[in-house]
Amino acid sequence: MSKPGIFISFEGIDGAGKSTHIEALAGAFRAQGRAVTLTREPGGTPLAEKLRSIVLNDTMDALTEVLLIFAARRDHLAKVIEPALARGDVVLCDRFTDATFAYQGGGRGFDLETLSILEQWVQTRQGPGVDFVRQPDMTLWFDLAPEVAAQRLSDARVPDKFEAQPVEFFNRVAQGYAQRAAQSPGRFARIDAAQGRHAVWQQITSAMVRRGWLAIMVADRTEPQ
Ligand code: TYD
Repeated sequence: MSKPGIFISFEGIDGAGKSTHIEALAGAFRAQGRAVTLTREPGGTPLAEKLRSIVLNDTMDALTEVLLIFAARRDHLAKVIEPALARGDVVLCDRFTDATFAYQGGGRGFDLETLSILEQWVQTRQGPGVDFVRQPDMTLWFDLAPEVAAQRLSDARVPDKFEAQPVEFFNRVAQGYAQRAAQSPGRFARIDAAQGRHAVWQQITSAMVRRGWLAIMVADRTEPQ
């Protein structure tokens, strides 16, 4: 019988350095013979990618933004994430609902109770005999001081709507993540993203090895350069 799927999300403020590690972790799982679905939010389907481009580029009120993000998430869950998990894939998702709590809830001050209702509504899946709310099995939270992240970003690329926000916005986003992590300590693995690439990779792979998802030798071999 094939192995059960694993759903891992990657979170953190802009500039925390998720990207290289997502690719490397995909390589590590593939080296172990696992099929990997590498995806992102908002996005991951043609419809959700259209919504992503609107959310990241257009100005709108917070409720409109939240509804578009959850609409994208619904399409993504139905068409990509649930089928991949059912096949037994490892799903690596660059951001998921914690980002909505952090950015729209923390950053923009949108009502958290409404976000919880939408979360239940959009992520409920009919299981055999039980309905459950789909959540990642593990969330790797790249935690970094907003001032450091801002410095890293300013060296990089043209900012999108969120990346162009002032550091106070990212302080609130960071608090939003900390609050979500405190609510689900079993799901969150905090990664100290201030450390160098090698140390960050070691933190990530240790979390995978502890859960029995990755063999330590494969983790060493697939480290990003
Ligand atoms: P990001 O994931 O950082 O992609 P890239 O590496 O291409 O910049 O960008 C997505 C942006 O969308 C990021 O600024 C956070 C924001 N976002 C939200 O505001 N709410 C959400 O629910 C999600 C998933 C993302």
